Order: sequence, then structure tokens, then C-alpha cells
Amino acid sequence: MNYISIQNIDSLSEWVKAALKIKSKPLKNKKLGKNKTLGMLFFNPSLRTRLSTQKAALNLGMNVMVMNFTNEGWTLEFEDGAIMNQGASEHIKEAAEVVSQYCDIIAVRAFAGLVDKEKDNAETVLAGFLKFATVPIVNMEGCTGHPLQALADAITMQEHKTKHRPKVVLSWAPHPKALPQAVANSFVEMMQLQDAEFVITHPEGYELNPEITKNSTIEYDQNKAFENADFIYTKNWSNYGDYGKITNSDPNWTVTAEKMKLTNNAKFMHCLPVRRNVIVSDEVLDSENSIVIEQANNRTYAAQLVLQKILKNGE
Ligand code: CP
Repeated sequence: MNYISIQNIDSLSEWVKAALKIKSKPLKNKKLGKNKTLGMLFFNPSLRTRLSTQKAALNLGMNVMVMNFTNEGWTLEFEDGAIMNQGASEHIKEAAEVVSQYCDIIAVRAFAGLVDKEKDNAETVLAGFLKFATVPIVNMEGCTGHPLQALADAITMQEHKTKHRPKVVLSWAPHPKALPQAVANSFVEMMQLQDAEFVITHPEGYELNPEITKNSTIEYDQNKAFENADFIYTKNWSNYGDYGKITNSDPNWTVTAEKMKLTNNAKFMHCLPVRRNVIVSDEVLDSENSIVIEQANNRTYAAQLVLQKILKNGE
């Protein structure tokens, strides 16, 4: 079993229920991972994913090895048949198979480069590990998805929802750097598995991949989208059409207390890290309605559920 995308979840409600059970007794399966090793490979920085996934593995009694490929690993080649007379020192064929000798599960973080859409959509790094590793692979945020985050988001919403069918709004907000669409993509895919009134709001031209949004409601008027919302999930992403570009940095899209007043006393969510007073005002982020810390806490139980399922699958 691999955990690469939200599509790997057979029943979201069952997974959320199981994760909440783990949260209530996180050390219950402390023996499950004994003598098993999780290898965490980072091609990009991380705080939450790194620590929560490591904590999840430790809660299951696993050993953990972490490697930062940005400054520690050999530069990898991913092209089949490449003549390796340039910068790359090692091919993914050997690297993935070698890491599989040391680890029972390999978790990989490799963001989109935001230069070549086709290459990013092909998930070169994740696909390489999937093809050449001989152990299960977990996606710790690839080019196009962040399914551990979206699972934690689903757990958090389940804990905070006050009605069966809440209104959930995914709102774009400005950011000075070009960011990938991965978090938003997985959130959309996760929401498509929920019984909710789901609305995506962003400036015109900032449409996500239509193969992911499918028939999700898109509202270009952020104020209108916020009306009566129960959850506001804010995230920046760079332009998908004009790939990887920042074509809008309008500060009017920042989530403020004024905008939150349009909602049904909505909870505020963000995957973090977040740029204060760019994405969201201090007032909103520091308010009682902000559940971003609980969201980050739930990353541990999302990861623990995934690792637990993989370990049990291998029994
Ligand atoms: N939300 C999230 O994935 O955080 P990190 O990038 O710090 O891991």
C-alpha cells in the first residue's frame, strides 16, 4: 500500500474516525512498528510534516531516518537512459533501491518546480521512488498534492463542525512568492468526498487544474463566497494557467476580521506556514476561531493512521 493521493482513501469518514481513535490513545500501537524503519527524504524544507510524521512513527515504535537531499544527498538523475555527464551523480534507479534496503517505508517530499507544468504533473521524484523502490511510499507533499495535510484537515473539520452539512470555503489569498497548487488540490479532492457545501474563491485567472476541481463551485466574489460560511480555509497558489506566475497580488484578498464577519462565525484554517498580514490578519489568526494549531496537531494522527495502515498491510 502506498499513500500518494487522496484517491488512496477508500472511505474518508472511516479514516477520520480511525484517526480520531488514534488521537485518543496515540501509544496504543506502540509495538506495531518495532524493528521497522521509516526513511523520510526531503527535497524541500518542512517543519510540520517532518516533525509530525516523525512523531507518528515514534508513537508506533518505529525507527526514523531523515535525509535532506537539498544539502546532504547526491544530486539525482530521473531521466531514463540519461548520459550522466552533467550535474547529477546518482540515478533514481539505484538511489530508490538502495534506500529500500535500509527502510520499510519511504516518505518523500518533492515540491513542484513551477517552471515546467508537464514535468510537475508527472511527479518525477515521487514517480521515480514509486517505480524503483521496493517498499511502500508516502507522499509528504509532491508537486500536485499534499494528502497528509488534507487528511489532517478532514480530521480537524470533523472535530469542529457544528452541523451535518457545513459550508466550507477555500479562499485564495495573496503571497509574495510563487507557491505550488498542491495543498489546494488535495483539499479540493478531500472536500469532494465530504457532505458539505463547498465553494472555491479566487481571482479570475487563478483556476486550479480543472481535472481536479471538476464541478466544484467557483465564486470570483470573495465576499459573496464568505457569506454564511462555517469554515474558511485560506491558501495561496500561483497561477496554474500562466504556470507558476504571480499574476495577482491584490491585498483585498487578505482574510480580515471584516471579511470573517460575513461568515457564520466560521472557523479559520490554514495549513501553515502562514505569512501574517499578507494571507491573513493578526486579528483573525489570533482569534478564538482560528484552529490552525489544532490542524497542525492533527498532522501527527493523519500520518500515524497512514503508517499504521501500511504496517498492518505488511503483516
Ligand atoms: N503544512 C505543512 O506541510 O507544513 P511544513 O511545510 O512545515 O511541513
